[in-house]
Amino acid sequence: MSRAVSMSTDPAAEAGPATGTDTGADAEAGPDATGSDTTGRGRVAVIVPAAGKGERLGPGAPKALRELGGFPLLVHAVRTLVTARSVDLVVVAAPPSAEGVAEVQRLLADLPGDTRVVAGGDTRQESVALALATLPEDCDVVLVHDAARALTPVDVVEAVVAAVRDGAGAVIPVLPVADTIKAVDADLVTATVDRSTLRAVQTPQGFTRDILTKAHAAADPTLPATDDAGLVEALGLPVRTVPGHAEAFKITTPFDLVLAEAVLRRRR
Ligand code: CTP
Ligand code: MG
Repeated sequence: MSRAVSMSTDPAAEAGPATGTDTGADAEAGPDATGSDTTGRGRVAVIVPAAGKGERLGPGAPKALRELGGFPLLVHAVRTLVTARSVDLVVVAAPPSAEGVAEVQRLLADLPGDTRVVAGGDTRQESVALALATLPEDCDVVLVHDAARALTPVDVVEAVVAAVRDGAGAVIPVLPVADTIKAVDADLVTATVDRSTLRAVQTPQGFTRDILTKAHAAADPTLPATDDAGLVEALGLPVRTVPGHAEAFKITTPFDLVLAEAVLRRRR
């Protein structure tokens, strides 16, 4: 059961943390200051799954609402998205309790841009599907971006949108894998995997709306995927990669939060 709540916010409002990254404002020849696309193509929506509990971070509030440098992780993530010239709409899947939804509504009201809230689900896949079902008709490009990747630079967002606009049906930001990776059976190594063919996958992942909708419609809710591109691969459709960024790492453990504090300090 999704509840879409329109948040009409003051576009001139200045609140939330600085993203500390290049807005890309000069890099793209946008037709107007709002960044909306006037070339006859549809709008770009970003779904932000933020309904997780953050169990690996330890006891406390849902992870997206935990603070980093004085602002919740979700605020950092959405702040960057509304800064992106190519992004028209942000839909957050909030922790599904009444308090979770109300808290996210309150946080987004302080941010500029078109932001909306739906109640998330029991799995990430379900949270994304609930938000996807509420998107306005005129959105034809959909990104999915983890609230937990709070410090993702705006340039990664723009690169993903550009690749979808360039004709890719599904796009993921990736990084080479630094560690040697081995397959194991209990405590015994069974193989060393060829690292040169491996990539670590980040978000935002970008899709044509059609492909993302088909991928979620075909997905098995009892075997939820950890990312959306995996659902597209299951359909046998191609997924294109673009370069990711070290600062787009997912904040999962207490150590990641220490790392994120350091990244933020360097930006400020
Ligand atoms: N997420 C979601 N709905 C869920 C589970 C996860 O929207 N039912 C979101 C999280 O809020 C997060 C993203 O999916 O932004 C990636 O998930 P993860 O890093 O695993 O976050 P959590 O599930 O919150 O963390 P944990 O697995 O440690 O509990
Ligand atoms: Mg999780």
